[in-house]
Amino acid sequence: MATVRLRGIIKDFGDVRAVDDISLDVQEGEFFSLLGPSGCGKTTTLRMLAGFEKPTAGSIFFNAKDVTAIRPQERNVGMVFQNYALFAHLSVGENIAFGLKARKIEKSEIPARVKKALHLVDLTGLADRAVSALSGGQQQRVALARALVIEPQILLLDEPLSNLDAKLRVETRQRIQELQQKLGITTFYVTHDQQEALTQSDRIAVFFAGKCVQIGAPRQIFSKPQSRTVMDFLGRANFISAEIIRCGLAVLPGGIELKIPQDDLPAGKKITIGFRPHEVELFADKPTLTAEVCGITFLGEAEEIVLRAGEIEIETLQPHTGDRASISTGDKIPIKLPFENLNIFEE
Ligand SMILES: Nc1ncnc2c1ncn2[C@@H]1O[C@H](COP(=O)(O)OP(=O)(O)OP(=O)(O)O)[C@@H](O)[C@H]1O
Ligand SMILES: [Mg+2]
Repeated sequence: MATVRLRGIIKDFGDVRAVDDISLDVQEGEFFSLLGPSGCGKTTTLRMLAGFEKPTAGSIFFNAKDVTAIRPQERNVGMVFQNYALFAHLSVGENIAFGLKARKIEKSEIPARVKKALHLVDLTGLADRAVSALSGGQQQRVALARALVIEPQILLLDEPLSNLDAKLRVETRQRIQELQQKLGITTFYVTHDQQEALTQSDRIAVFFAGKCVQIGAPRQIFSKPQSRTVMDFLGRANFISAEIIRCGLAVLPGGIELKIPQDDLPAGKKITIGFRPHEVELFADKPTLTAEVCGITFLGEAEEIVLRAGEIEIETLQPHTGDRASISTGDKIPIKLPFENLNIFEE
């Protein structure tokens, strides 16, 4: 178990700056996710933590120790790669034993350690099986066992669920979460799937174009994103352009006035107001505005109702209660925007 500190980490591949000045602190035993779109530098950051890539600049510390120049085998880090990277010509047991041999662990100790790791991931008895004769989910667990067998202080998981079907993703996600909690290993979890990051992380770092743009607990970054880009990436969102008229009051397109939960912006300032579809109240007593229903989509548990008021288009998400047949396209509905949960982004 270890705390991890990154300070001013930069990684260039020729002209490409893959990671651009990352500094962050991860606590002992924390489940820390790196979330961001494809190509934003997640894998590169993980590979630097493992020691497979050397930063162009900056330092990495495990506890108080600077490990920047230390080789991978000497870092006591377990990694599950984006594509598992299992050795197809080796058996399950040999795959798991690989890291132990590389670390020159006493030969006589190896079978027991492999058995224990297989047990951890619920694959007891499969040591002699060829890797090619396993399902995708089982291969994923072998990769996890291979990372855990060395009893790492830090576990690095690079999109470990990306090759699994929807049901197996949920099961495996729960298994990883349970194991992480049981073993208490400081864990970096890389994903581009916001749902995965939101459900299991203690904290999330959101990456864009090599930069870490926000770090916070899942609820915090979901409801208080620092930028429109983060809000958009983390889930469905509405954005309306507006202008400040005076302290705490903005005007929306069409002249609709809206109280906003921020009173330090000067009159004339252009802003974007962001809010989540499920937070819009339909048939409100004290409505913000009246809008016309222009689309209804049944989603099973919920219904998406798209509304329009002049130039403003608002997506809403309402739990499906069965009696919503009363709303039809063309209806005019009083709606209320969520004052407390309006996010104000300066332009
Ligand atoms: N070995 C390399 N040589 C040159 N460029 C690289 C190398 N590895 C990564 N890059 C570039 O660095 C950037 C970040 O890549 P990285 O693999 O870290 O992204 P990622 O966030 O893991 O993306 P994904 O979600 O697609 O896996 C990309 O532009 C990529 O093309
Ligand atoms: Mg990647």
